[in-house]
Amino acid sequence: MPDKKTLIDTLEMQRTLSKDEFAELISGYNEENAEYLKEKASETAKRYFDNKIYTRGLIEFTNYCKNDCYYCGIRRSNTRVNRYRLSREEILSCCREGYELGFRTFVLQGGEDVRYSDEEMVCLISSIKETYPDCALTLSIGEKSCESYLAYRKAGADRYLLRHETANAEHYRKLHPDSLSLQVRKQCLRDLKAIGYQVGTGFMVGSPYQTAEHLAEDLLFIKELSPEMIGIGPYLPHHDTPFAGEKKGSMELTLYLISILRLMIPNALIPATTALGTIHPLGREKGILSGANVVMPNLSPVAVRKKYELYDNKICTGDEAAECRFCLQNRMKKIGYEIISARGDFVPMQTM
Ligand code: 5AD
Ligand code: FES
Repeated sequence: MPDKKTLIDTLEMQRTLSKDEFAELISGYNEENAEYLKEKASETAKRYFDNKIYTRGLIEFTNYCKNDCYYCGIRRSNTRVNRYRLSREEILSCCREGYELGFRTFVLQGGEDVRYSDEEMVCLISSIKETYPDCALTLSIGEKSCESYLAYRKAGADRYLLRHETANAEHYRKLHPDSLSLQVRKQCLRDLKAIGYQVGTGFMVGSPYQTAEHLAEDLLFIKELSPEMIGIGPYLPHHDTPFAGEKKGSMELTLYLISILRLMIPNALIPATTALGTIHPLGREKGILSGANVVMPNLSPVAVRKKYELYDNKICTGDEAAECRFCLQNRMKKIGYEIISARGDFVPMQTM
């Protein structure tokens, strides 16, 4: 097996590696290799995006969820969660505030809430797109039928986020109850692609039972799917879940993987996630410096923020939308980057 720097050089040139090589690169993590990789990844991001950072306004509109994922704080079985659902008016008012703050992408994220019918979703999507025709709308509401995805797309939704969580079927079964399967998750992602969404996927780093081989499979799955957006963050425990006692993921490994992903798909939109900002006070800055190019400040009403707790100690739960927006603007400026208002659509290679 070639040394790690040679592997990184090969990755940069060929934009992929074999499964064994990826696993070797991941298990061979050390500070020196990480630094070498980070330099290449941040140069690549600069080449494609200059020092510009795209921003998306995140609206967490419902914390009801029919699923029971073992890692997630808003899982169905967690009876201690205060459940809420924002009305269409409340969501539109988040968009209004976001628009004034310069957001041109809204992300509607929620649990898999059965009370939000397709009809209601379509109505909500149409109202947002009619009111803000210059904005992109991203959905992040889980597994749906192909017909539902099509209906939302026709109503105007542009993008869809659905993390695959882990590309190894056995590992997937250890993180989820039997009602969920990797096969269905992958089919959803293929449906979303076929319908013409800009698609985002991703995984948690350091989730319970995860190995370097699993991560190598995640990378190969992402290479094959070729998503427009890739979101990863460290696994963080939530005290009211079956995984409460499990170890959190590593920030360093998360940053290392962000750099690998940047070299794999140089034009991808990769956020410095809230989980990264939670595990370390400068986690999001480090994410950007490792090759990420998107931040997603929270636009949800402050009154509900603490209720959307996927993991313990989630940041920004007490701050107004404007505070988060300006906080991130300053943070990015401090490290030499600039948040821009543009929609930030994916641009295919040939046209860049
Ligand atoms: N720690 C880190 N990330 C989590 N997610 C859910 N629960 C946790 C947790 N405990 C991530 C999942 C999901 C996204 C919305 O949040 O990857 O897809
Ligand atoms: Fe929310 Fe800094 S981003 S307070």
